[in-house]
Amino acid sequence: MSTPHAFGAPGVHDGELAPLGGFPRVRPRRLRRTAAMRTLVRETRLHEAQFILPLFVRNGVGLRTPIGSMPGVSQTSIDEMLRDAEAATTAGIGGVLLFGIPDTKDATGSSGWHEHGPVQEAVRAIKREYPDLLVITDVCMCEYTDHGHCGILTASGEVDNDATLELLSREALSHAEAGADIVAPSDMMDGRIGHMRNALDAAGHTQTPIMSYAVKYASAFYGPFREAAESTPTFGDRRAYQMDPANSAEALKEARLDLAEGADMLMVKPAGAYLDVIQAVKRDTGVPLCAYQVSGEFAMIRAAAERGWIDGERAMMESLTAITRAGADMVITYFALEAAAVLQRR
Ligand code: PBG
Repeated sequence: MSTPHAFGAPGVHDGELAPLGGFPRVRPRRLRRTAAMRTLVRETRLHEAQFILPLFVRNGVGLRTPIGSMPGVSQTSIDEMLRDAEAATTAGIGGVLLFGIPDTKDATGSSGWHEHGPVQEAVRAIKREYPDLLVITDVCMCEYTDHGHCGILTASGEVDNDATLELLSREALSHAEAGADIVAPSDMMDGRIGHMRNALDAAGHTQTPIMSYAVKYASAFYGPFREAAESTPTFGDRRAYQMDPANSAEALKEARLDLAEGADMLMVKPAGAYLDVIQAVKRDTGVPLCAYQVSGEFAMIRAAAERGWIDGERAMMESLTAITRAGADMVITYFALEAAAVLQRR
């Protein structure tokens, strides 16, 4: 897989090259002349097992509804989703990440923890048909609340952090009961990892890991996703709970807090515009780190490629290489199957 942590390795600093005399003895281009040579000295290698494919599931039969701003991505009913799960299994990717689109929404997002909700049913269906496919579930309330925020609201219309924790834990627990391999809370409430760990443990799910969206920015790059998940806030925005894109020291604080509360893996999101944050969090924590190449990152590459403005395949592989080089061990990406197919061909 990748070896992205060679930064600061001895022997590559200018000062140490000086005794060799530099050019013309030293010619970096010697190692770039042939494909075989470049492959030999490559520092970052992609592997399909590091890719995680997001899937949007809803109730119904035979549904595959394309998402306009994400060409190639669809909302599906569970029967159709199973085809994607099969493709994921065949491609050998690391797993899938499930998002649910419920039939009904209310102020408390109660459909989020329904035993027979789309995510819960999708998990059961995958575990029945493809038991070896790793299933991660996104735990959040914005798809399930009628106001589209990631928690319940106070009378004054603010997201009520502490009251939301109970509901998120209930949702995570329902995913674990259905058979999810990993739960991944994306809400950005304070204290939710500890609360969720306690709830899972108390119910006997001591072996279900939590992948925390620990470092999640209030980003414009989520635009297409909100069409996909039908989760645009009906008022305001998410800046009172998601992070300010200007901050990186705060990322380490969030990462450490979530680890202290019991997170098993961390995530940085978005990925491409936050490579410095990925590198810093990986170096600081050393734990398994996931990066989410979000809908807007995907859409930009797709749209430019469709217009013939960039080579879509090369841009896809370059973006995934850069995210991995920065320090991500896993990448959630809408390109997962396409990128796996490219690696297969090589
Ligand atoms: C839910 C959630 C979002 C994404 C993943 N989980 C949207 C948001 O926070 O507004 C974005 C994923 C993407 O853009 O691909 N909170």
